Amino acid sequence: MILLDGKNYSKKLKNELREEVDQLIEKVGIAPGLAIVLVGEDPASCIYVRNKMKAANFCHIKADLIQVTKTISENELLDLVYKLNQDDTYHGIIVQLPLPKHINEQAIIDAIIDKKDVDGFGIINKGKLFSGLPCIKSATPKGIMKLLEEYDIELEGKNAVVVGRSNIVGKPMAMMLLEKNATVTICHSRTKKLGEITKQADILIVAIGKDRFIKENMVKDGAVVIDVGTNRVDEKLYGDVDFENVKDKCAYISPVPGGVGPLTISSLLENTIIAYKNILNIK
Ligand code: GUN
Repeated sequence: MILLDGKNYSKKLKNELREEVDQLIEKVGIAPGLAIVLVGEDPASCIYVRNKMKAANFCHIKADLIQVTKTISENELLDLVYKLNQDDTYHGIIVQLPLPKHINEQAIIDAIIDKKDVDGFGIINKGKLFSGLPCIKSATPKGIMKLLEEYDIELEGKNAVVVGRSNIVGKPMAMMLLEKNATVTICHSRTKKLGEITKQADILIVAIGKDRFIKENMVKDGAVVIDVGTNRVDEKLYGDVDFENVKDKCAYISPVPGGVGPLTISSLLENTIIAYKNILNIK
């Protein structure tokens, strides 16, 4: 079994991004800017945002945290997004999810101008992805594709099974695998005989948010297993895959922590640099 080491690969990518940013700053005179909007104080969101800020600072991207109270109205949050859309110092905008229940999440995401939508969650970037057009790609599935490429894992003609159909991971993941000519199946909470389907997978990607849900008998011998889960149990972090039981059956497996998570962040930073170059028309 080979461990898909997202932590080290992400370090390498961040060093490369930092070099590119330094060169861009020297040439253009301004740094790429990223606005991170955090609504309320959800503990998991605070950790994610802190990690994003830290990584952006490391890469010399100017990241600003804009924190607002959880009682903000949908209209006030929309006004904030409109203001950030107009602000030339920001080339990327993200609104950390989830948002409080009284706010329509998709309305906020779609208010971000597509050129600055560095999460790639807006309807324009998603529509382009689903149409096979160039676009800003969602950071988590983009990071997974980079990880598979780094380890020279062939996708063409392979059976890829994605467990989970979220807008953030499952659906865009399926599209990116399809783009690389994998045969893609999407499973979800209503799928019947899930284990029989996952057992057919050459590439198994799991993003369901259920602690150690995928067991040994659900995995094919020699499979490539990507675990997107981050489940906190008694202060410890576990994936959606029962790593200890599954690992010896796999050709490759991504650990939690240290697998997909760090690559989500480096992909977000890469998206910010892509957005900056597009907005400023830099080749
Ligand atoms: N919440 C969980 N994952 C993400 C992400 O990738 N981006 C944003 N904005 N919110 C999230």
